[in-house]
Amino acid sequence: MCGIVGYVGRKNCAEVLLSTLEKLEYRGYDSAGIAVFDKNNIEVRKAKGRIAELRAKMASEGSPEGRVGIGHTRWATHGEPSDINSHPHSGGNVTIVHNGIIENYKEIKNMLISLGREFVSQTDTEVAAQLLDFYYKGNPVEAIIKAIRDIRGSFALGIIFRDFPDTIFAVRKESPLIVGIGEGESFIASDVTAILNYTRDYYMPEPDEIAVLSPYSTKIYGLNYNQLDKPLHHADWDENAAEKQGYAHFMIKEINEQPDAVKTTVVPRVTDGLPDLSECGITYDMLRGFKRINIAACGTAMHAGLVGKYIIEDLAEIPVNVDIASEFRYRKPLVKKDDLVIIISQSGETADSLAALRLSKSLGAKTLAIVNAKGSSIAREADMTIYTLAGPEIAVASTKAYMVQIAVMYLFAFAAAYANGAISEQRCRELTASLLEIPEKISEAIKLNDKAQYAASTLVNADSLLYIGRGLDYALSMEGSLKLKEISYIHSESYAAGELKHGTISLVTEGMPVIAVVTQKELEEKTVSNMKELKARGAYVIVVAASNILIESDVADYVINLGECDEMLSPMTAVVPLQLIAYYTAVLKGNDVDRPRNLAKSVTVE
Ligand code: M6R
Repeated sequence: MCGIVGYVGRKNCAEVLLSTLEKLEYRGYDSAGIAVFDKNNIEVRKAKGRIAELRAKMASEGSPEGRVGIGHTRWATHGEPSDINSHPHSGGNVTIVHNGIIENYKEIKNMLISLGREFVSQTDTEVAAQLLDFYYKGNPVEAIIKAIRDIRGSFALGIIFRDFPDTIFAVRKESPLIVGIGEGESFIASDVTAILNYTRDYYMPEPDEIAVLSPYSTKIYGLNYNQLDKPLHHADWDENAAEKQGYAHFMIKEINEQPDAVKTTVVPRVTDGLPDLSECGITYDMLRGFKRINIAACGTAMHAGLVGKYIIEDLAEIPVNVDIASEFRYRKPLVKKDDLVIIISQSGETADSLAALRLSKSLGAKTLAIVNAKGSSIAREADMTIYTLAGPEIAVASTKAYMVQIAVMYLFAFAAAYANGAISEQRCRELTASLLEIPEKISEAIKLNDKAQYAASTLVNADSLLYIGRGLDYALSMEGSLKLKEISYIHSESYAAGELKHGTISLVTEGMPVIAVVTQKELEEKTVSNMKELKARGAYVIVVAASNILIESDVADYVINLGECDEMLSPMTAVVPLQLIAYYTAVLKGNDVDRPRNLAKSVTVE
């Protein structure tokens, strides 16, 4: 989704804006632009395409030389990607950048047109710029307060006023925004990764709070124009976390970071060999009280929820519903007071997941967020939060975030099962010990790199493929399929292996690739039979199998055998070859692996 940045200080503003925008590229975008005060004029440069194209344009048109400005990467919502629709947008005295969607922009636009105002773009953002200018009578903060009262929807705005050449203003509702504080300089950004090269200290404005940044001070005001005393946060991420460090892509770097990410997430949540979530506000007493669990999330995070369903129901014997958050929020879910609703999200800002959280709270349920981004909206609004400690995930295709989400699902399931008396203390200790050993097993799975690369080479020319599995393996095959399609652009579907005969097997023709996941001994025979049925119809079958599952050569064309691992935890190793297959297929196709077309890292609109 869109990214916004802003800078006030002594450095060359254009360069700071471009370098911070480059750090937000992972969010997904189709055009970019900046506006900089240059000797009291506001100079705007914008271009459709990547920041490299904006840089090229600036090299030919000249780069503004000022010290104060705002910048933007746009992921088109209102109006196609084009130079004109790119941000910044201006209206009279005001120039802005915007992340989010203004739902009532038509209404406001019509009102402004009736007053004689003219628009040049198709965007909702230009409407906000004109509205701010309409209210501006010399006091920027007053104009912002009035304008945001009229606006419905989500926004984080970076604003400059022609009459205030040394100041930037910012305000948010729903969309993320941080205000960075350096030595004699300050920043705004959609997330803290953008400014890590300049400073690690930042404020997190709440909705409707207005930040005013000048070289002399940074102040944050409430809607009554009252100055607020906000806590200063410090980003303790490793400096290199948001850099590729020699890897060809962030995605492969993040796949390789999975063992450490799991260690960092799990180890502090184990005390004396048993899961301990008390630091997150979750006690064994509390776990005993939940009669039903709902999990709502999107994309990969929802797939982590599906793994959660299998293991929580199996171990803790608590019924679990998993919903796509965008469905949950509109299907009038039967959520009751004794229910727990778990929202899983890497970014903590996904619009549908946030709405599902708010709906669950309004229905009286207890809410638990499993979130990676510290201080994000979902983390702040949930009753309890378990942070996954994966560090920043930059590639759009989620890998390490999924891994730590399922690690937390396991901790939760073990704790809930033990609390309910569904498993003995001894079994809980055994499972927890296996989870503590899993980082090594994930490292072994990463060594299957070459096998995955070979499997990928057999897929590059495919038009379509199937992923199949049963039980936990089905949950996993859904993630494998999503990973492949989002970055390789090859169509794929995941199917419960037993469901193929009910229609989908008619798609299978000579040479069609099928990836089967077989890690559950109890289901081995059944899935293998389904693989035989597929092979008999000409499918090219690749199988990812547990170490104790022997795949005969007449059942599969290519076998990737995993190392030894507790069967219950197999998704944490089996997902690795699936991630690697998706990665290498995309690389072989020459795709932009970290920034696949049309996708955004943080989906802050419905
Ligand atoms: O930030 P979130 O975890 O809430 O994001 C949810 C999905 O948008 C995300 O998992 C998406 O499906 C990824 N691109 C998958 O790789």
